[in-house]
Amino acid sequence: MARHLITSALPYINGIKHLGNMVGSMLPADVYARYLRQRGHDVLYICATDEHGTPAELAAKAAGQSVDAFCGAQHDAQKAIYDGFALRFDHFGRSSSRQNVELTQHFARKLHENGFIEERAIRQVFSLADDRFLPDRYIVGTCPHCGYDKARGDQCENCTRVLDPTDLIESRSAISGSAELEVRETTHLFLLQSKLQAEVEQWIDANSAEWPTLASSIARKWLTEGLQDRAITRDLDWGVPVPADVWPELAAEGKVFYVWFDAPIEYIAATKEWADAGGTDGDRDWKSWWYEAGDVRYTEFMAKDNVPFHSVMFPATQIGTREPWKKVDFLKAFNWLNYYGGKFSTSQQRGIFTDAALELLPADYWRYFLIANAPESDDTSFTWELFSSSVNKDLADTLGNFVNRVLSFSRKRFGDDVPAGAAAGPAEQKLGEEIAGLLAEYEGHLEALQFRKAAAALRALWSAGNSYLEEKAPWLEIKTDKEAAALTLRTAMNLIHLYAVVSEPFIPASAQAMRSAFALPDDTAAWVTQEEAKALASVPAGTAFTVPPVLFAKITEDDLESYRARFGGGEETAGA
Ligand code: 2FM
Ligand code: ZN
Repeated sequence: MARHLITSALPYINGIKHLGNMVGSMLPADVYARYLRQRGHDVLYICATDEHGTPAELAAKAAGQSVDAFCGAQHDAQKAIYDGFALRFDHFGRSSSRQNVELTQHFARKLHENGFIEERAIRQVFSLADDRFLPDRYIVGTCPHCGYDKARGDQCENCTRVLDPTDLIESRSAISGSAELEVRETTHLFLLQSKLQAEVEQWIDANSAEWPTLASSIARKWLTEGLQDRAITRDLDWGVPVPADVWPELAAEGKVFYVWFDAPIEYIAATKEWADAGGTDGDRDWKSWWYEAGDVRYTEFMAKDNVPFHSVMFPATQIGTREPWKKVDFLKAFNWLNYYGGKFSTSQQRGIFTDAALELLPADYWRYFLIANAPESDDTSFTWELFSSSVNKDLADTLGNFVNRVLSFSRKRFGDDVPAGAAAGPAEQKLGEEIAGLLAEYEGHLEALQFRKAAAALRALWSAGNSYLEEKAPWLEIKTDKEAAALTLRTAMNLIHLYAVVSEPFIPASAQAMRSAFALPDDTAAWVTQEEAKALASVPAGTAFTVPPVLFAKITEDDLESYRARFGGGEETAGA
């Protein structure tokens, strides 16, 4: 059985993430990891905060904190929210860790030894008022091509032309607004990606056949345009220092690696953090997951803007070390989740942020809705109307109501133990076949990482229980044939237990509440086999049970109104 290594794109440290960030990386990774664990696979799910770069420095400055203190506090704040969403990372690390410093420097040394790093002097804009170089988007000015006066140093948003900061007219600092700028020469390390183009292409040819088109087409586009050599260092105070043994002068000047160089290496370093935190026995083996790891299947989760870095640039870095680092096997990419057709925006605080979401409703509501509406083949839009209809119909009516109805009715008529009743008949046989078929479908979609389809199959499993119950109508059966009613209820209770197990990846807290309704000795969430699904007999007659509190409360019109008032919705149009 293969071991499964899973990573989700590292959330950037500069603020609390919104639901769009959640659905495009961490949440589907967690669903997949939970599913594989339940099926008995050896799974390692790694994530971390991405802590370096200018945005972190600026956010810390705005918060009046040192970058170090800011990142520490923000890491803890994000981690607490992810715990609230029941994301079960094996480790949630920090890209500013000692392990990442060491590993990033190791990667750079190897790339240098193999001739893939070169020092180049470049001209960069220095701001006297800010006492720093202004890379990329930290300089703004007038576009020399179209005259747009808020063009950024790396690109003009108006005419989309790619720019060099020195191209801008009447440029000023995006940080202080100061126009006291001068061009200075500074030396940086360049990763010679152009030399790795052919090897990356070969690797993509051999490995991307199964990837979603979204991922492979982005990778192809970058390769077709040709891999450019890229500066992988920056003049910043905060980052992984350039190793002094190889580049003493650059190290003395305080150069650090560019955030996109060290961030993906943190996937490996976070695994090392996990191993190092393993306690005195220290037997957590990080290396076998990443180095000569032929038996490992590595799946990455990310939104589409991250695909170029993961499909082309990080593999190029790995290949250039000439060491056998594990490269991605399956790259699951997502489109955008929008808010009423417009963008979720961190800077404009538009949409729903993960902390606010948890204040409103339990994580399971969000987990289910987001995965059932994941932007897999296209961008999708969050609306409160869609959210409430999905929660009310699927979670409250179809699943929650079934659980409550069956358990309450059985307790009322047969007491606190699962009743025995008649032997299973044709209706139960037909139900078992149907459930086994739907289960196989659900499994197939999860194996293929088709989350919306998996959600539809899960809904179909829940609906099958409702249809069975309506058909058998135990509330009528009880009037004429108590044994028949007991059989129906026992079968339905077995469905509840099956739902508890197979719904766990989507709605872990509710699944746990459903499973623990039954006093089964040594009960685990181990996956249901086809035979078990057909037999529907894992919960035997005589098992004590309790009726859990209502699993899902319906979202009312009043709730909806207050959500819309608090978060906005509907009135803003696309592109706002
Ligand atoms: O886009 C982002 O938010 C980045 N922080 C993702 C980094 S993923 C990885 F490579 F570290
Ligand atoms: Zn322009």
